[in-house]
Amino acid sequence: MKGKKKKIVMLTAYDAPTARILSDCGIDIILVGDSVGNSLLGYESTIPVTLDDIIHHCAAVSRAKPNSLIIGDMPFMSYKVSIEQALENCGRVLQEGGAEAVKTEGGGRVVDTVAAIVDAGIPVMGHIGLTPQSIYEFGGYRVQGRTTKTAELLVSQAKRLEEAGAFSLVLELVPQETAKAITESVEIPTIGIGAGPYCDGQVLVLWDMLGFFEDFKPKFVKKYASIRSVITQAVTQYASEVRDGKFPDHEHSFDMAEEESGRLYGREKPSN
Ligand code: KIV
Repeated sequence: MKGKKKKIVMLTAYDAPTARILSDCGIDIILVGDSVGNSLLGYESTIPVTLDDIIHHCAAVSRAKPNSLIIGDMPFMSYKVSIEQALENCGRVLQEGGAEAVKTEGGGRVVDTVAAIVDAGIPVMGHIGLTPQSIYEFGGYRVQGRTTKTAELLVSQAKRLEEAGAFSLVLELVPQETAKAITESVEIPTIGIGAGPYCDGQVLVLWDMLGFFEDFKPKFVKKYASIRSVITQAVTQYASEVRDGKFPDHEHSFDMAEEESGRLYGREKPSN
């Protein structure tokens, strides 16, 4: 797709029905991201997300049998203790979670691990720029690669990951100029999030672009829907109809056969 200049479209999903919708919409890649921590599990960062969480959500997504490529996000510390640990855990994400590839965060420090995972036959997507699992090292969710020196460092990380065998790279929170330089310096596709238009593809966290959270408004997220207000309206109407005795009405209830209700109530049938 990079060769043909066709943009790659990626979104996150963590459950079967959503994965089915994304597949039906022709989304190229479904990322079972560790953003499940912030999106669904109520955590403030991705750090508490466990390998079992990722496997559980990958399995739900893969049961939907999407046509999209399913990538399982390797969570915090699940691939950094040793190469053996990384291989074992990536293997579980494919075997038990049904993912077809994994994503790891980081540049130079994970290059040898990425090479070993690829060597084991597991496709790896790299992730550089702002990598949320290292948030305490960065000191916050800050744009990376703003200077020539740091941009060049990211270019060199991208090249090293490509050499290690990564099939693609997520670029998160980098200036568009930096993303362009990285995209032009590697043959593998770059997928941007907060990285401007020059990447080979784009990814957003589904719940962010659907407008699930009112108070989360980062500059790089465009809200394509206001799903929170749709849910709020439906739930409020349901609650008021239950309280007013309007739901369930006859249309949403079942009837006994006349003779059975006659036997149960004498001649009188309950009115609703
Ligand atoms: O976990 C995630 O959803 C991600 C994307 C932000 C790329 O890593």
